[in-house]
Amino acid sequence: MSANEDLWPFLPGRRTLRIVSASGATLTTDDGREILDLAGGAIAVNVGHGRAEVARAMAEEAERLTYVVPPWATPSRERLVARLRRAWLPPGLTRAYFASGGSEANESAMKVAVQHFAARGMPQKYKIIGRELSYHGTTLATTGLGGHAARRIGLEAVLQDHPRAPTPYPLRAPAEVATEELGRYYADALEAVIDAEGPETVAAIMAEPIVGSSGGALIPPADYWPRIRALCDAHDILLIFDEVMTGFGRTGRRFAFEFWDLTPDLLVSGKGLAGGYAPIGGLFASDRVLAPIAEAGGEVMFHTFGAHPAACAAAERVLDILEREELVSRAETLGAKLSGWLHDAFADHPYVAESRGCGLLQAIEVVADRNSLEPFPQAAGLTRSIVAAALERGVYCYWGGTGTIRDIVCLGPPFSITEAELKHGVAVLREAVDTAIAQLG
Ligand SMILES: Cc1ncc(COP(=O)(O)O)c(C=O)c1O
Repeated sequence: MSANEDLWPFLPGRRTLRIVSASGATLTTDDGREILDLAGGAIAVNVGHGRAEVARAMAEEAERLTYVVPPWATPSRERLVARLRRAWLPPGLTRAYFASGGSEANESAMKVAVQHFAARGMPQKYKIIGRELSYHGTTLATTGLGGHAARRIGLEAVLQDHPRAPTPYPLRAPAEVATEELGRYYADALEAVIDAEGPETVAAIMAEPIVGSSGGALIPPADYWPRIRALCDAHDILLIFDEVMTGFGRTGRRFAFEFWDLTPDLLVSGKGLAGGYAPIGGLFASDRVLAPIAEAGGEVMFHTFGAHPAACAAAERVLDILEREELVSRAETLGAKLSGWLHDAFADHPYVAESRGCGLLQAIEVVADRNSLEPFPQAAGLTRSIVAAALERGVYCYWGGTGTIRDIVCLGPPFSITEAELKHGVAVLREAVDTAIAQLG
């Protein structure tokens, strides 16, 4: 079957690539072209493409168990939770709920936060605060909470409004705030939102501890999260960390929150949990958060395909590979090298404001003017041109930004990628940036 039969994608009239196989960090198109996957798909693939042992584990499980309703136990579900508790989750966050992906898991976290306070006799404590620059998923609730301008277009009429606080953005922080004051500045801004809403009405704050592709690997000031944790404790507000993109080693830690000495109340994961092999997202919670719901006779309704046995088997095997091959520490060391190569390639670039990130979540931000940080016009579509120019040269990078914040290109390769592949990818990205800007005229 050829690519011209208009079977894909969903929207008519769009052209797309046709991938027929993948191995390691390489995708192969139907005409035999090889593409270096510097984006791990949607920054999801961590152990690399084509791991036969994961495919086998899924096939064996599917042969044993087609489907079992999520509230019931299966050996694959139990094994996955046992492994998560033993090697991945922080003490206390021992209870696991599995959805089919990040959006569903985030929305489940929002619901659990609201249910928690309702069960404690505080139904008026229901608001969830998000942040201005963020992405939490594609359902209406997560789109409403998130701060991703482009992904809200055409949905404005039905999106529920949530209070939002500024996202720490060191590059674009107000010039009058000293660097060492930035953590306090952004924490004060979030506190002002809590005060304006009334802390007695706020159930939770949901945020990515390190912002993924919407902000392009934005790392907050060191004292920001400890201040927010203290605010949450003071006001009986649940802190929900969306680690759908950053979880399971992407930043060189098991979870990004481990860069700080604190734990969220609810932790959400997706992508890396099964390394792209199966659709699964995880919500992890403590007894403290869940007990009131259970005691009040409540339920956390399951998704039909949540905790699918074959997906649990895939996740278990992917986590096993991450542990066995020490891929999280590889993401840290390789990430440090990648960061250096990006710096070498772009530090003196007239149109690159900065390269940033940690582990194997890295990004560059392209601007029209390095001094004022003025972006290129949105209509120029520069991010897409850069991604297209890199693809023409056989390298796939991930488009980042939200439309308002733009011309961010992200890298999130498999942790198994080689140094030579990464160096080649960086050189191609530099060429792609230059080509796309030259095309602007
Ligand atoms: C931080 C974050 N949260 C949530 C999601 C949504 O996850 P999914 O696409 O699996 O529903 C994504 C996806 O990119 C994400 O990056």
